[in-house]
This record gives sequence, C-alpha cells and structure tokens, in this order.
Amino acid sequence: MNVLAPARPDLRFTSEVERETAPLYDKVKKVIPEVEWPVFAPLIARINALKKQKNAVILGHNYMTPEIFHCVADMTGDSLALARMATKTDADIIVMAGVHFMAETAKLLNPSKTVLIPDTGAGCTLAESVTAADVRALKAQYPGVPVVTYVNTSAEVKAESDICCTSGNAVEIVNGLGVDRVIMLPDEYLALNTAKLVKPEVITWKGRCVVHEQFTAADIRNLRAANPGVVVLAHPECAPDVIAVSDYAGSTAGMIDYVAKHRPAKVVLVTECSMSDNVAADFPELDFVKPCNLCPFMKKIELSNILTALETGQTEVHIHPAVAARARVAVERMLTGWKPGA
Ligand code: 13P
Ligand code: SF4
Repeated sequence: MNVLAPARPDLRFTSEVERETAPLYDKVKKVIPEVEWPVFAPLIARINALKKQKNAVILGHNYMTPEIFHCVADMTGDSLALARMATKTDADIIVMAGVHFMAETAKLLNPSKTVLIPDTGAGCTLAESVTAADVRALKAQYPGVPVVTYVNTSAEVKAESDICCTSGNAVEIVNGLGVDRVIMLPDEYLALNTAKLVKPEVITWKGRCVVHEQFTAADIRNLRAANPGVVVLAHPECAPDVIAVSDYAGSTAGMIDYVAKHRPAKVVLVTECSMSDNVAADFPELDFVKPCNLCPFMKKIELSNILTALETGQTEVHIHPAVAARARVAVERMLTGWKPGA
C-alpha cells in the first residue's frame, strides 16, 4: 500500500519496513499524519541501517522536523549540547542534522573525523551578519576588550574571538570573564538580553535571526488574549520587549527543560516551528499553541539529503588548518572555562 511510491525500488514501504519502523511511528504519531508515514518510513529504515554499516552518528538540532529528530537522530539538543556531544562520539562519521555553523563546530572538535552537512545551503542569518574583518575592526576600536562570540558564526569569525558562547550559557560565560566590558557578537538581541543579566557592560553588534526577529510583543499579548493561562517561553534571540512579556527566556534546551519540569497545561514556544512538534510528541498531554516561524536554513535538511550524505559522503566540512586551530581555542574555552590573562 505504497500510495506515494518513491522512484527507488529499495525505498518502498514494504510490510517489513512497516513492522521495523512501527515503534518509531508510535513516538511521532501525534505530530505526523498516518498518510505521510509510507513516505518517511523507508528512508528512516535505510538511514538507520547505513548508520550502523558506516559507524556514523547523526546529531540533530531541536529545530529538525520530527521524522528526523525522533526517528534517525542519535543525539539531539541545543547548540551547546550538540557541541558537547561532538566531543564524546566514537563514530567515524558525524552527520549534522542542523545548520552549517553547527557542522563546523563539530569538525573543530573532531578534526580527524568526517563531518557531513546534508545541504551546504543550510546557513544562518546571524552567521552571515559578521565577518572576520568586522571582528578585527571591533578589536581595534575597543583594544583589550574580550570578544565573546555566539556559536552561530563561521570558523573564521570564531578564530578572531576570545571565547564562544551559546544562548544556553551566555550569562555564565560573560560573568565568568571577570571583566568590566565585553564585546558580544553577532546577535544584537541576545547581547541586549544578556546585558540585563550580567555585571559587565556589553558592546553589541547588529546581527539578527530571521526567525526570532519576527516575533513582536504585540504577538505575545494577542496570544495571551486568545489563549487565557498560556505559559510563554521565548528564545533569547527575540527582541528584549518580547522577552519582557514572556514567562521564561532560554535556549531551545532550556525551554524543553522548563516544559518537562513545570508541565504547563497550555504552552507556547516562541521560536522555530518544529520545536513545538518535537516537544509535543514527548508530552502528548500538553496543549502547544503554535505561532509558526520556520527557519528556511534548518528546513533544508531532510531525510532524503541525510540519506544521500550517508551514501555518497557529501558534503564534507573542511576548515583551513590555521583558522581551525584558532577557532578551536575559542570553542574549547567555552566548554572548559577561561578567564582573560589566565
Ligand atoms: P539553541 O542553541 O538555543 O539551540 O539555538 C540555536 C539557534 O540557531 C537558535 O535559533
Ligand atoms: Fe540561524 Fe535563526 Fe535559523 Fe537559528 S533559527 S539557524 S539563528 S537563522
């Protein structure tokens, strides 16, 4: 009963594939209609078999669609968790089901492993918003002021930075430096939201996330009016006035932890769409209100190009060794702790 038969005969929804993938469908049935499963299941079965054959692991960001997040990713999490996981795997191949900067971070931490990104167009507006030359100019303008760089940047930008941070550890990293002033780039909103919670003065850059900059404080007020009692969790890449009218601000993993701990009956995750589906699959008893903003870059990653990556080894992430050596220092300082002058 293959309604939408794929071109490849080895990707048919046979009764064997149906049986093998039934436990996975059980996990996602709340968020994936039954009619779509015959298309996903053969790809999932093939990807999971190839991972074993090739000793490969798939790291999946929280914004992946549920058939990736719940059915083929071996490890899932926010940017910080994915960076930490990348240091722990014994696999020979890492496939990043996420965007390019995440694949680069995994490569920085695993120079001898093969790191694959299924679509090289999976970029990020924040990573695009700043260049290595911009960072050098800022350092010349503010001599001696440490540069704290969000992981949503290229390896070249990280190489010019003192230490990296994610939305999950920005406050801790900035306070931990023990200085009076920091440069925080590229996300202006993350920097402004962090500035409210830290001791040092924060010098900002003008980068924006195309997904989070769209949410407004009026949207949140309207959501509350339409959904009395709703708990609002927002990502710190949203504007400060959005954070001000939310109940909690935190990284994607922080939001998931909040839901797991507090189990709000009705909740809205002010972030990328797929996150709500992934969390709703794990907490079917909760009501998720879904204001939908998709990240066009995250959505470039699909089961079909994950399969192609595993089959062909395309596209491998390479970083110039001289750039990688310096960028790795900034990422490792984030993971192990660092103070200027130490
Ligand atoms: P997290 O580190 O919170 O997962 O965020 C990554 C990201 O790209 C948010 O837009
Ligand atoms: Fe970049 Fe925003 Fe997409 Fe995250 S959601 S990858 S910050 S564009």
